[in-house]
Amino acid sequence: MCGIVGYLGPEPAYPILIDGLKRLEYRGYDSSGVATVEPGGEMSVHKRQGKVANLEAHIGAGVPQGTVGIGHTRWATHGPPSDRNAHPHLGGNGKIAVIHNGIIENYEALKELLTHRGHDLTSDTDTEVLAHFIDEVHRSTGLDLPDAVRVALKEVVGAYAIVVLDESQPDRLIAARKSSPLVVGIGENNAFYVGSDATPIVGYTKNVIYLEDEEVATMGRDGSLTIRTIADAVVTPEVHEIEMEIASLEKAGFDHFMLKEIFEQPKSIRDSIRGRIRLQSGEVMMSGIDDHWAKWEQAERILILGCGTSWHAGLVAEYLFESFARIPVEVEYASEFRYRKPVIRDTDVVLAISQSGETADTLAAIRLAKEHGAHIFGVCNVVGSSIARESDAGAYTHAGPEIGVASTKAFTAQVAVLTTMAMHLGKRLGKLNDQAFMRLMTGLDNIPDLVQQVLDNASAVEHIAAQFAQAENALYLGRGYQFPVALEGALKLKEISYIHAEGYPAAEMKHGPIALIDENMPVIFIATQDDVYEKVVSNIQEVKARGGQILAIINDGDTKVRALADHVLEVPKVHEALSPLLTSVPMQLLSYHIALMRGCNVDQPRNLAKSVTVE
Ligand code: AGP
Repeated sequence: MCGIVGYLGPEPAYPILIDGLKRLEYRGYDSSGVATVEPGGEMSVHKRQGKVANLEAHIGAGVPQGTVGIGHTRWATHGPPSDRNAHPHLGGNGKIAVIHNGIIENYEALKELLTHRGHDLTSDTDTEVLAHFIDEVHRSTGLDLPDAVRVALKEVVGAYAIVVLDESQPDRLIAARKSSPLVVGIGENNAFYVGSDATPIVGYTKNVIYLEDEEVATMGRDGSLTIRTIADAVVTPEVHEIEMEIASLEKAGFDHFMLKEIFEQPKSIRDSIRGRIRLQSGEVMMSGIDDHWAKWEQAERILILGCGTSWHAGLVAEYLFESFARIPVEVEYASEFRYRKPVIRDTDVVLAISQSGETADTLAAIRLAKEHGAHIFGVCNVVGSSIARESDAGAYTHAGPEIGVASTKAFTAQVAVLTTMAMHLGKRLGKLNDQAFMRLMTGLDNIPDLVQQVLDNASAVEHIAAQFAQAENALYLGRGYQFPVALEGALKLKEISYIHAEGYPAAEMKHGPIALIDENMPVIFIATQDDVYEKVVSNIQEVKARGGQILAIINDGDTKVRALADHVLEVPKVHEALSPLLTSVPMQLLSYHIALMRGCNVDQPRNLAKSVTVE
């Protein structure tokens, strides 16, 4: 939700902090700030509402020179976006600077205590309360700051990823986390880098430590690193080497990350199935399943948990797993599941789907399921993310970093991996015969090339987008495998163009939404030639009879729907189970172009952040 970056080392911190903030801006971007301890020993803090560019302009030529510093991009939770509420926040008469990603749930109680003890709080944020509370503990106990941070955090309820900078100790940086991600990079010449994820670090070092919940890391300019739990147990850190390349974090000539990521899908889908499907031997390699086969073999139910686009991928998986493996599937919004006192059995297999691997509700939901003995299988895109590390097994989607807030390549990579899993399960359980299995295997292997074919006709989308760019509403309708695609298409449109869009099963239209149909209502049908095609054609005719503007996603050469619709976009005909991998692509492009035509910020849409790491 917010972006965190920190640096301690021989180089000037400011350029590293600003570069990191720009790479983290996709996580939250309503304000930003930096704090450094300058060569003269004084704390220097600059913060500004708006984009990181506003902060840079505000700082101008007089950039800080300190070699230790922290930086933050904010997605507001407590207090509106403003200079005053931007991080870093100061405690201790301005001697301690804190940046924070998370929510301090008991901040009001702490604020009352601090106010009673004479602290003067000037912002609306929970983070400023935390900064003053750390200072209060530091001064009242006389503990060294790392221990004061540890003791203070024992009193904190909620989620946090923090970095603390102490004016009096410029040779030290302190970081801590609970339920919000934090990565420590170990660089050359005793340099340390801290980030909400690896993106601000990977340009400097590939050696990272993923802090675990309730761990406090103290970094020293001499290269020393001490990690303790808030219960004061010493932790031996495990250093990982990350595979991410800095080039993958650039736009590579595209106008926006979202467009780049849409066009990366032939590669990202190929990468997501590479090594998993073996055409020659007719096998699927899925060690995450095979190493825990007993859990899957006796599974009475597959529970799929996710949010947003990942939840839509879960809905596609429901069709896949029930069709191929004949195992009952329930797909749940993680945020609802975690609070509704669900019945969870130790025979359940839980599929947690999350691009970031840090979505708070999904993480909490799998923790609940784990407490009840369910087997957790994570499908994540970010290696080393919290959900990936807390799952019993899993499969990474290998889509590469997805920077655009609107998920595109991550969705198709998720669906590709879930398709592979369902095929493997169906075959091992004897529910999918060899002929059907091989047809799917061959079809899936062809998908990257067919996605490229759809992208080669991307220009047709721009013309159609112009017809809908001024719409105020839109309906997306599909049946079967195309119902989740309709939901995903509607989400893409609303989250980047701010047009109110809804997805429905096409058959559901007559139970209410048809009342919305008039000449001002764009209706996007996904009308691929599958078992329910004729039913969808009837629905199209019902909309046409009421004057709705119809865009239909059809299979190549479909003249019947072409004659009915106002606009069509064609995709190659494939096995219905593989079709979401193709039909979702024109939807992504349609949303992208409509949002651009409406002057929206495609990569950083208003009010959103890439990863919802707080509830
Ligand atoms: C989708 O375009 C949005 N970015 C959002 O709905 C996202 O899918 C959701 O927040 C889940 O994120 P996750 O996959 O990282 O858990």
